[in-house]
Amino acid sequence: MFTMPIVNLLDRAQRLAETGKHVNVLWQYPDSLMFIARGREYRSEFHVNPSDETMYMIKGEMRLHYRTSEGKEEIATIPEGSVIYTPAGTPHSPRFPTDAFALISERTRREGEVDRFHWYCPKCDALLHEEVFIVRDYAEDPVSRAYQRFFGNEDFRTCKKCGEVMPAVAS
Ligand SMILES: [Fe+2]
Repeated sequence: MFTMPIVNLLDRAQRLAETGKHVNVLWQYPDSLMFIARGREYRSEFHVNPSDETMYMIKGEMRLHYRTSEGKEEIATIPEGSVIYTPAGTPHSPRFPTDAFALISERTRREGEVDRFHWYCPKCDALLHEEVFIVRDYAEDPVSRAYQRFFGNEDFRTCKKCGEVMPAVAS
């Protein structure tokens, strides 16, 4: 018989803090993907996810930057102990400190689905760059991979509209 997983969130968060990693996957099933994320020093990209998403703050506070359907950047603040629902396709950028932890629930990607990562110009807000990934295994930490590609190429970080260059920052 299938053994239903029961996971202690604080133990897993502690493990992330000790290893310095950013993502710990609790489970991945077709309709349920659950992981704990530790905050990053720096986050500038907006993730466009084909799945609905819920984010629960286990420890610390999140400032969720997101873009409205009109393309305007807004910020939702999620205090410790609170949860937010983010519909599929909402460009969102979860910003929280490296000693803060979020429990994140999505579903595993379906055949043909892609995840998109968008960066906007800090000066004129034009779209700077898009990274597209097929996420087969969330344990591969697609966010970190997207940053490696973006920071590794100055052309990606150069605004085609106004010429501003977003500096590369350690992620
Ligand atoms: Fe620009």
